[in-house]
Amino acid sequence: MGNFVDVKELNKQNKYIQNVKLLVEGRGLKAFVYTLGCQQNEADSEKIMGTLQKMGYIITENEEEADILMVNTCAIRDHAEKRALSIVGRFKHYKAKNPDIIIGVCGCMSAQEHQREKLKHSYHYVDFTFGTGALHRLPEFVYNALNKKKRYFDIDSDTPAIAEGVDPLRASSYRAWVSIMYGCNNFCTYCIVPYVRGRERSRKMEDILSEIKDLVNKGYKDITLLGQNVNSYGKDLEEKTNIAALLNEISKIEGEFWIHLMTSHPKDASDEMIEAIKSSPRTSGHFHLPLQSGSDEILKKMNRHYDLEKYLSIIEKLRKDNEKITLTTDIIVGFPNESEEDFQKTLEVIKRVKYDSIFSFIYSPRKGTPAASMDNQIPESEKHRRYDILCDVQNDISREINESYIGTVQKVLVDGKSKNNEGVYTSRTQGNKIVHFECENDYTGTFKNVKITRADTFALYGEII
Ligand code: 5AD
Ligand code: SF4
Repeated sequence: MGNFVDVKELNKQNKYIQNVKLLVEGRGLKAFVYTLGCQQNEADSEKIMGTLQKMGYIITENEEEADILMVNTCAIRDHAEKRALSIVGRFKHYKAKNPDIIIGVCGCMSAQEHQREKLKHSYHYVDFTFGTGALHRLPEFVYNALNKKKRYFDIDSDTPAIAEGVDPLRASSYRAWVSIMYGCNNFCTYCIVPYVRGRERSRKMEDILSEIKDLVNKGYKDITLLGQNVNSYGKDLEEKTNIAALLNEISKIEGEFWIHLMTSHPKDASDEMIEAIKSSPRTSGHFHLPLQSGSDEILKKMNRHYDLEKYLSIIEKLRKDNEKITLTTDIIVGFPNESEEDFQKTLEVIKRVKYDSIFSFIYSPRKGTPAASMDNQIPESEKHRRYDILCDVQNDISREINESYIGTVQKVLVDGKSKNNEGVYTSRTQGNKIVHFECENDYTGTFKNVKITRADTFALYGEII
């Protein structure tokens, strides 16, 4: 079987789909999926919804009318797990009212043994749980639940594989996620991902390219290539390849569309990859390069395998002859042993690089990861203090950069009407900057040019031209 789910297993699941359909179709049964966490989870949920729809369920956004309720969970920080459990908790009364309702929990949180046990013993109304690697077996789990089989708590996700042919029900008709690889080999000492998503597995290049071609033919304009560490794409394939080769092949596809990569690891950012990104107008607009910390000592304790010098050299290469590229990063504050001096070093890098925006996180100990049992954990109040300082420093930088766009014309992809502002549309540039503009026509899903007239920390404002 290797890294790929074999045809026999996929055929078996297809039979379950047909069998569930016989039980469900024509009854108007509805399915609700709640998604927490990263883009990878968003992409997984689209596959879950695609499968549920294939089985005859109608997808609903109203949990109160659902006959099957699923929570796709995240485990990256404690807060995400608490939210997941509170949502599962909220579903209890639906089952109390109607015992035929099916409740499933999936994703990263449910791939951990201690959480699986908790769901099994403290949440008696949950019918099944499974991790990210068993997503293709959803038809089997639903079929068994419909037939009142025993509750099921999957542990197969410890050896996950890639299942091709599970079609997503995409939330958007112009922005799409395309997973190019799954899992992670890096074991950064703070991170739970390698434990819950398994080792790196790359999809075959031909499968990725055909998915992208299909999306472009359908009119998709913005495609994000997903993986925990897209820079190491292809290393595990029988026919060895790499991210630069993939990007170069994508460049040959005709059509007007943008490509983003999410997310990268500085230790694997090769010159070849940087060149591939810079050489295509589809990819040269934005790059996300997680820094995590500006202190070499902390980076070592995080097991990141790069130092500040190496990191800054990548930034320099990305910007050389490509000054317009927007840069974003991830920062963790309050990692064990992080001194005031270490924290100051992070602030210095933020001021030096001047990212367009940053994703900052308060370190959250994850059960089973090395950092959780390190000495010198930082008190919560101190973590929050550093977090607030970091946000303040970055907010000033973001505002300053955004203000430099005033007077320029930006190409944007229109996302539709702004939620709270009548007549205002929201859109994003290739560099992921949010642009609001007033407009009488609905140009959702198309590229437009906007003249920027105003800016603040979080967005640009302008007039469509
Ligand atoms: N605590 C806080 N932030 C974390 N991240 C990963 N694990 C943790 C943790 N235990 C952050 C990293 C990563 C981003 C997706 O989440 O910055 O890049
Ligand atoms: Fe987690 Fe590090 Fe892997 Fe990213 S590279 S998913 S931070 S272990």
